[in-house]
Amino acid sequence: MPGIVYRKWLAVLLAFMGLFLTACGEKQEERSKLIMVTNATFPPYEFYQGDRIVGIDADMVSEIARRNNLDLVIEDMAFDSVIAAVQTGKADVAASGITVTEDRRKQIDFTTSYVKADQVIIVRENGAVASSADLKGKRIGVQHGTTGDMYVTSNIQEPERFQDGALAVASLVTGKIDAVVLDSSPAAEHVARNTGICILPGALASEEYAMAISKNRPELLAMFNKTMAEMKEDGTMARIWARYLDKDGKPLAVPVLEQDQGLWQRMVNSVEVNFVKDNRWRYLVNGFFVTIEISFCAVLMGLCIGFLVAVVRSAHDQTGRYKVLNFLCHIYLTVVRGTPVVVQLLIIYFVIFGSVDVSKVLVAIVAFGVNSGAYVAEIIRSGIMAVDGGQMEAGRSLGMSYGTTMRSVILPQAFKNVLPALGNEFIVLLKETSVCGYIALQDLTKGGDIIRSQTYDAFLPLIMVALTYLVVVVCLSQLLKKLENHLKKNER
Ligand code: ARG
Repeated sequence: MPGIVYRKWLAVLLAFMGLFLTACGEKQEERSKLIMVTNATFPPYEFYQGDRIVGIDADMVSEIARRNNLDLVIEDMAFDSVIAAVQTGKADVAASGITVTEDRRKQIDFTTSYVKADQVIIVRENGAVASSADLKGKRIGVQHGTTGDMYVTSNIQEPERFQDGALAVASLVTGKIDAVVLDSSPAAEHVARNTGICILPGALASEEYAMAISKNRPELLAMFNKTMAEMKEDGTMARIWARYLDKDGKPLAVPVLEQDQGLWQRMVNSVEVNFVKDNRWRYLVNGFFVTIEISFCAVLMGLCIGFLVAVVRSAHDQTGRYKVLNFLCHIYLTVVRGTPVVVQLLIIYFVIFGSVDVSKVLVAIVAFGVNSGAYVAEIIRSGIMAVDGGQMEAGRSLGMSYGTTMRSVILPQAFKNVLPALGNEFIVLLKETSVCGYIALQDLTKGGDIIRSQTYDAFLPLIMVALTYLVVVVCLSQLLKKLENHLKKNER
């Protein structure tokens, strides 16, 4: 009886898995696309307005694409990945307020530069830092992988590295750090949107921004340079700038800060700004579905891989057969369990699927599925080992083959015994998918990040994201409990 139940489950799982993998694998149309990567936490150069990424860089590339009959696709990812995305051919151009540096020039080609910018210091008014001379020994925040990061690291000390400038500024406002080193224009935006912080006079460094294009694409580079020159000539560039900055380079259209409100009113406003305005709640809802889709498929994939590996390993332990397969499984377990899942995800995305245009959801499913498979394998193997040895002997003496005994006597019992541990693994997996943002997937965590980058409010979006995960995990635990009880009943 348990054997039948278990087979039924497996069939359902496999059917679902096939369905999702076909759905995810559908190729996108390739007709003359121009893929731009950016890190949309950098107003006025790139930031979200509603669903869209806008800003000087976005508008500029959009115009370049229009003039060359290309369909622009903008992808948002961590700043420290945009150059790699261009280098590995995942994207055509990186436009992300990128400062021209000699080190970067070794990796990619730069277009002609389009603006000058400074690195400035943001501090709390009346805080511990009054000039750049005071920085040493203070807690300095930067955005990870930026020139601000490099400057502070090589000239002052190890900084505190944040995923984006807004997070660093939020930490400054709440007193967690003493200063933020950031590019001048985004710094001005942050200062205008927060109270109690200001920019110190003087610049730490002066730089120029350009866009990054792969060294293997000289024709694309030439096209960009030519169109940019035309746009400068005919005044388009100036018009794009004027959409975001006034004549003195100050940000336009910054929301007016409302002060002196009671706690309750502030809370209500915060909910309104973070979730209601511009339908921002949709980032969370859409992200939620992406997270569920990835987790669900990865769990199925992990289960299949895990089962196979566990069976091979146990069969080898018990019968001494399958030496080669066992060896391969061993390598798989060692490599997967010995490296962090983010690194695996990045390797699968940038290296293994480097030059193929495959859906990111699929990449994530493969990465998390392969990762989870290793843990599931060991969990199931421990379940198999825990089944009394007499069971196998009994099965064999009844004339069943090793395989049949394994399938219909041992595995169903093993599965039941390890269900709690498996449930644990699924919960971990669900939460681990929160690193998907690294490959520009908009999962639940990234949804919260996007809201954060639009509203400059760290508190509510993070709390909401946390609550959503919590609810999902609680539901998942309940489901597993039901399954456990169901299997227990079947036993009798
Ligand atoms: N200009 C700096 C750099 O190139 C910071 C750029 C950050 N850009 C962004 N979109 N977050 O390192």
